[in-house]
Amino acid sequence: MNICVFASGTGTNFKALILSEKRKKIKSSISLLITNNSYCGAVQTAVKYGIKYKVINRTLYPDIPETSYDKLFLSAVEEQSIDFILLAGYMKLLSSQLLKVFRNRIINIHPALLPSFGGKGMYGVNVHRAVIESGVKVSGITIHYADEKYDEGKIIFQKCCAVSNDDDEFSLMQKIRKLEHKYYPEIVKKFEEKKIIISKNKVIVN
Ligand code: GRF
Repeated sequence: MNICVFASGTGTNFKALILSEKRKKIKSSISLLITNNSYCGAVQTAVKYGIKYKVINRTLYPDIPETSYDKLFLSAVEEQSIDFILLAGYMKLLSSQLLKVFRNRIINIHPALLPSFGGKGMYGVNVHRAVIESGVKVSGITIHYADEKYDEGKIIFQKCCAVSNDDDEFSLMQKIRKLEHKYYPEIVKKFEEKKIIISKNKVIVN
């Protein structure tokens, strides 16, 4: 199967996914990166590993109507025969045409235990700062299907870690990154093996 990753930032999860392909932990090929930010770390990683990338950003297409802009995403993934999409720090809402065609084939990873600490503005270090300030004793990662809202699709997988008294947002981010890099590829493998089943409102991972 062919995977497209959407990323806007540093791209450490993107890199972890590429390495899991190289180490044969997943069978699919990471064939395409889509980003809104041509200067992001994920683009540098794509260049380093020879992965095609496409920058889609409204400022690059100022004159086309919204529906045509929306269609650029679907066209880009269809051109590369993409089977499923992984979001890894993508900072935009998804195109509605893409969501329609790829329903239940788009997965996102979030660096906290949803439904807490998600939604607009909850990205990067902001999430970990909010976690620390709230005083909760556990945080973790959530891997979920993506839909038209931020961080609200059906939850596939969660893993928690302790928030220690001496953690700050940066040390917590490091802990969470380790979990993300380990478990995102594992869930991709489950997806490849068709071991993720949607049953009413729940997702069962076998
Ligand atoms: C990760 O924490 C991920 O959970 C969130 O965005 C961050 C991306 O980090 N959606 P990176 O760019 O992969 O390092």
